[in-house]
Amino acid sequence: MSHGSVATKSGNGHGTSYPRRLEGKVAIITGGVGGIGASTVELFVENGAKVIITDIQDHLGLAMSDKLGDNVTYIHCNVSNEDEIINLIDTTILKYGKQDIMYNNAGIIGNKSRSILDADNSDLE
Ligand SMILES: NC(=O)c1ccc[n+]([C@@H]2O[C@H](COP(=O)([O-])OP(=O)(O)OC[C@H]3O[C@@H](n4cnc5c(N)ncnc54)[C@H](O)[C@@H]3O)[C@@H](O)[C@H]2O)c1
Repeated sequence: MSHGSVATKSGNGHGTSYPRRLEGKVAIITGGVGGIGASTVELFVENGAKVIITDIQDHLGLAMSDKLGDNVTYIHCNVSNEDEIINLIDTTILKYGKQDIMYNNAGIIGNKSRSILDADNSDLE
């Protein structure tokens, strides 16, 4: 090690130290229980974010939020249900007073012949 670089066992859990780039940020991650979403949740928490996990697999989501601690909350939300999305945002604002990041990870494979800008609710059902 040279020139004042610092390696510690604190911070990110990988043996090196770098700024927690999401400190104080409030992030919603849809489909956060499985696959890429679950890995993203862990990375965001390591970087200091408060994370709202949403998914349709409630038992796994609740177990995940228990395991990851106070900075993680699970809220049921089927992203194809507009009322559940409204509830998700309202609950997030009620709890944290803001929402900084929306990671739309739960993907819907729909009609690919149209631009996303032309999508309407029926494309998400
Ligand atoms: N894995 C890949 O190689 C790959 C490649 C390109 C794009 N993607 C996209 O990345 C995203 C994540 O992929 P993945 O492989 O981690 O998927 P995954 O199937 O492992 O996980 C998806 C998560 O979304 C949840 N989910 C499914 N339907 C939902 C709904 N209606 N509302 C809320 N949550 C819902 C599932 O319960 C699951 O926890 C998807 O949008 C996928 O299309 C993945």
